[in-house]
Parts: sequence; C-alpha cells; structure tokens
Amino acid sequence: MLRTSVSIIRSVSAFAKQATSRAVHTTFYAMAPVKVGDKLPAVDLFEDSPANKVNVCDLTSGKKVVLFAVPGAFTPGCSKTHLPGYVQNADKLKAEGVSEIVCVSVNDPYVMAAWGAQHNTKGKVRMLADPSGNFIKALDLGTNLPPLGGFRSKRFSMVINDSTIQELNVEPDGTGLSCSLADKIKVK
Ligand code: BEZ
Repeated sequence: MLRTSVSIIRSVSAFAKQATSRAVHTTFYAMAPVKVGDKLPAVDLFEDSPANKVNVCDLTSGKKVVLFAVPGAFTPGCSKTHLPGYVQNADKLKAEGVSEIVCVSVNDPYVMAAWGAQHNTKGKVRMLADPSGNFIKALDLGTNLPPLGGFRSKRFSMVINDSTIQELNVEPDGTGLSCSLADKIKVK
C-alpha cells in the first residue's frame, strides 16, 4: 500500500516537473489587450517569404507607422473595403507624416504577397504575415474564427509613433468595418 502511494506521488511529481519545464518554454502571451501608450512587442513578421523577417520594433523605431490588421487575406470585407481603403489613402497618409502603412494578417507570407499583388499595394502598403499569430497574441487582439481555420486577428488599426501605440481602433465586434477603416484614422 505504502509502496503504491509512493509510486503514485513520484508519477505525479514527474508529470508536474515536465509540465513546468514545458511552461517555461512557452511563448509569453499578453493577458490583456494592448492600449494607447504601450510599446509594441519585438516580434518578427514576414514579408513575401519565410526567409524575410521584419521585426516590428525595428520597423517602427523612430517613425510614424500606420498598422492595420485583418481577419484574413482574400476575405470579402478585407478585399472589398479594408485593404483598398488604405491603398487609396496611402499618399494622403504619407503626406501627413506616415512613413509606412502596414497590413498584418494571421496568414502565411506567400498568401499575403499574392493578396498584395492583386491590390497593387507595392510602394503603398506593406503586406506582413504573422503566420503563427505570435504578434497578434502578444497584443491580445486575436479572435477565434472557425470558418477561417481558427485563431485570427480582430480587425483593428493603430497609429504607432516610435514603436509606441498613439491611437488604437479595434472593431467592437471583432470583424466589422467601421472604426478601423482608412478614412477614420487620425494621424496627428
Ligand atoms: C470578411 O469578409 O472580412 C470576413 C469573413 C469571414 C470572417 C471574418 C471576416
């Protein structure tokens, strides 16, 4: 009886040790959504291919950047309204002091590149992929969208000044097309 109890305790303790060791290797995810005044996480995104990393902090350091995120490349709302709005407003936003306009989605970089090519984004909007969702998880701005395969980004826009969030517009229902559209963004 005593031997059985000791053996059970050993098994439980080995399991706990393994679980702890797994936990320390897990990526840190934010527990609350980011807010105005927060610094962006130094996460890598990908442009055109998995070989081409773009670190979010490097991208936004010392500059004003507009970043908007969509639930999915090629989806109707993102293709008909959200992305075209930023392409059309790119020159105006750049004249107001924006150095880069960036579109992010939890998709792979080839999909983002193909979607950008279809919308003539070159020189206007950079199409950055967050394939594992690590950027969106770190911002705690993700949502579960089973029709799109599961974890995706909520639809939002932000103005970033020297890697710090200056303005943040998250769609209240996660995917709607209102406050995060290009014509609603206030750069100053
Ligand atoms: C869209 O068309 O933008 C969309 C479609 C499905 C889920 C979320 C967004």
